[in-house]
Amino acid sequence: MNVTLSSKTPDAIKADCLVVGVPEKGQWPDSTQQADAALGGLLAELHKAGDMTGKLASTLMFPVSDKPWDRILVVGTGGDSDRSPANYRKALTAAFSQLKDSNARNALVTLADTSTNTTDWTEADRVSLIGRTLEDQMYRFTGFKSEKAPAPKLAKVTVAASGTGKALKDALILGLATGRGMNLTRDLGNTPPNVCHPTWLAEQAEKMAKDHEVIKTEVLDEKQMKKLGMNSLLSVSAGSAQPAKLIIMEYRGGKSKDKPHVLVGKGITFDSGGISIKPGEGMDEMKYDMGGAASVFGAMQAIAEIKPAINVVAVVAAAENMPSGTATRPGDIVTSMSGQTIEILNTDAEGRLVLCDALTYVKRFEPATVVDLATLTGACIIALGHQATGLFSNDDALAEQLTAAGERACDRVWRLPIWDEYQPLLDSNFADMQNIGGRAAGSITAACFLSRFTKDYRWAHLDIAGTAWHSGKTKGSSGRPVPLLVDYLMSNVGK
Ligand code: BES
Ligand code: MN
Ligand code: ZN
Repeated sequence: MNVTLSSKTPDAIKADCLVVGVPEKGQWPDSTQQADAALGGLLAELHKAGDMTGKLASTLMFPVSDKPWDRILVVGTGGDSDRSPANYRKALTAAFSQLKDSNARNALVTLADTSTNTTDWTEADRVSLIGRTLEDQMYRFTGFKSEKAPAPKLAKVTVAASGTGKALKDALILGLATGRGMNLTRDLGNTPPNVCHPTWLAEQAEKMAKDHEVIKTEVLDEKQMKKLGMNSLLSVSAGSAQPAKLIIMEYRGGKSKDKPHVLVGKGITFDSGGISIKPGEGMDEMKYDMGGAASVFGAMQAIAEIKPAINVVAVVAAAENMPSGTATRPGDIVTSMSGQTIEILNTDAEGRLVLCDALTYVKRFEPATVVDLATLTGACIIALGHQATGLFSNDDALAEQLTAAGERACDRVWRLPIWDEYQPLLDSNFADMQNIGGRAAGSITAACFLSRFTKDYRWAHLDIAGTAWHSGKTKGSSGRPVPLLVDYLMSNVGK
């Protein structure tokens, strides 16, 4: 999709479809007023007749003749109390979803001058969200259907804005790159686990380096990991015919002395539970257990497109968790790369086992911060549902920075504690720790486990078990938390 900015008034731009916003009451945005004037007051008439109420995310599309546009798409932007960025996003989503299903090949989108009442939200933020939501709504995953649904016709979008200078252009690029990053994350997540295994993920990382000169990829195989002492990680792939991979992607856009921000992704390409096998129902969804890894890929691709002046290192711990004669048993004790020993009481608590070695490995980068992303615990869904990602951190400033990024990006997180009081739940009779802490506070004890490997740097853990994908009729990867990650990384530029 080709998306550009224009500062011309709507009537000066030809398009298959003009998209305008109408609020429930109060003054209309300038662009809507200008469009209405060009339409001879048609919009005002529809409003008066009650056919176009302005209710948040309601849409109305109709054809017009002898105008610069063939059709008009009106989207309701809601009442005065609806003016949050999240609601603005709802309106964009409704509009672009309808636009995608229409016959329009090109569109003029005027929604950047719809007011949002969050004080630090600017036109640039709105332009950015328009770019992101356009990409987001055009997403399709059809590679495995023999009969492909027709692709959306929309190929060109002009975004009306107050200017076309660098600030707004950068905002548009940021949004488009974020949306495309989300879509890469979804592609990786939705790819079936017989295709998306650790070796395939490693190939995707090599492809990323090939497609983006600014990305360098390195892949460690099991032999190299064994040499590093990553026995905890390797205990997870022990039962699988697919070898584990440690995937490292580096983006160096900052000065060479700038310490990198490190992302670590859980990349379990299928989580059967291993010998502690999961119940059958819904087990297919455990192909999404590489959602942390997928979001790291998406964020790196976005960063490669935006090219900010920071250094970012991404590490993905990729493995498949399967039962077999060579699988790890409940009761096995392994020595992690850190030297700490772990009694594996449940082979289904495998995410922490791969992450702990990856978190030890990243010390070598002397990180400014480390953020790990993982579909780590079912308990996180019980605690926060599918709305918020769980946040845990050993650093208050980092936790606040991530929380603010989530707010801005409409991709929210909520912090849970990792107080020392929880640590004894991981005491083992035979090793330095056990890998489960019982039913109570399952997400917290998982984070406490990780915290034993992250003492040397500023660290945050994001449990995305509830947010990385949708179940049921709309089953599919959500692309979260790529918007959060991109916003967070960008907030470190110039710091
Ligand atoms: N990948 C799962 C967590 C998960 C389950 C995410 C369902 C999303 C939906 C993880 O590896 C796991 O199995 N965790 C166990 C931990 C338990 C054995 C301590 C869980 O949450 O049940
Ligand atoms: Mn598991
Ligand atoms: Zn898992």
